[in-house]
Amino acid sequence: MIKAKYPTDKFQNIRTPFYYYDLDVLRKTLNEIKVLKLPENYVVHYALKANVNPALLAIIKDAELGADCVSGGEIQAAVNAGFPASKIVFAGVGKADWEINLALEHDIFCFNVESTAELEVINELATAKNKKARIALRVNPDVATSTHKYISTGSAEDKFGINREELGNAIDLLPTLKNIELIGLHFHIGSQITDMTDYHNLCVRIHEVQNFFSKRDIHVKHINVGGGLGVNYGHPNHFPIPEFETYFKTFRDHLPLRPEQILHFELGRSIVAQCGSLISRVLYVKEGTSKNFVILDAGMTELIRPALYDAYHRIENLTSDKETEIYDVVGPICESSDVFAKNFELNKTKRGDIFAIRTAGAYGETMASQYNCRQLPKSVTSDELK
Ligand code: LLP
Repeated sequence: MIKAKYPTDKFQNIRTPFYYYDLDVLRKTLNEIKVLKLPENYVVHYALKANVNPALLAIIKDAELGADCVSGGEIQAAVNAGFPASKIVFAGVGKADWEINLALEHDIFCFNVESTAELEVINELATAKNKKARIALRVNPDVATSTHKYISTGSAEDKFGINREELGNAIDLLPTLKNIELIGLHFHIGSQITDMTDYHNLCVRIHEVQNFFSKRDIHVKHINVGGGLGVNYGHPNHFPIPEFETYFKTFRDHLPLRPEQILHFELGRSIVAQCGSLISRVLYVKEGTSKNFVILDAGMTELIRPALYDAYHRIENLTSDKETEIYDVVGPICESSDVFAKNFELNKTKRGDIFAIRTAGAYGETMASQYNCRQLPKSVTSDELK
């Protein structure tokens, strides 16, 4: 069984569970995008919802990515990490007034607006501050994806974006809103997308939507295609770097930009997933009637993805090289769904062994909870252990 290299000796002295971030993997991931030498009119933003750990944000900011935020808290985290406001975009179906005000005060680059009602509120709040808010209309592209239904966002029945039938109303409203400037169109079809046909379909739809706007003599400078590029959860040791090249090429091949147009991307998972692991200690190995359970000190409170989405995360026993056996790997939380994996092949395991749950850098730490009065997980970076 191939395993990743971890400073396991140093883990022995750290209280588990905790998130471990290999910052060299993050740097390498960002460098893979850099060496692609994307066209000058391509701008990559990092979707903070995937991970807001300051150590990671500092590296991502230094790589000159912009920041895609979905709450006032994320805008604050981006500003604190040093992302320039001129590179912050703000999406979300339910922006509260204080969040809109915070974004206006920082003079962020763009609001991705999801309804006509929101347009009116942003206009009202911008007027009160005597400011002009730059906005992109988030269009629901009605493109189906092959990903999990909880993380698919671009179908007509999803709550996100403005439906095509409603677009005309939004366009009619815009000239009456004096403190709003339409600068772009925004799209996002879902997350953990590995089939590039989904993006090809998105490109076709964007082209149609652009024509719809052009016919009404509206020409926008910015097109934002959202995020969603998937990572390889099954084989993080063999495929640590996402398919950036094929992903960007899909847009180069299928999304013709108009003169002076700028294309924006909002990548979350593909930037940070593979650099993070949840490190946990085995509390007990328990023999059931027909199977054996490994009970970890980490549970769904630290990493909810398996319980919530039935998500697969590769699990490695870092302290055993013994023959393999089959186990159910579970957490200590009082919920039957607190299971990381069923019938999973692991090196023979005993109490005290240290486990790594892989590909946990995205939507791991940010989705942690304090259920059962547990403490939020701490984090350690590879740089700290050097
Ligand atoms: N842009 C928008 C408008 C989004 O809604 C999202 C993710 C992204 C960008 C970034 O998508 P990414 O590149 O990370 O796929 N908690 C779920 C994922 C939820 C994604 C929500 N939106 C999970 O653990 O799989």
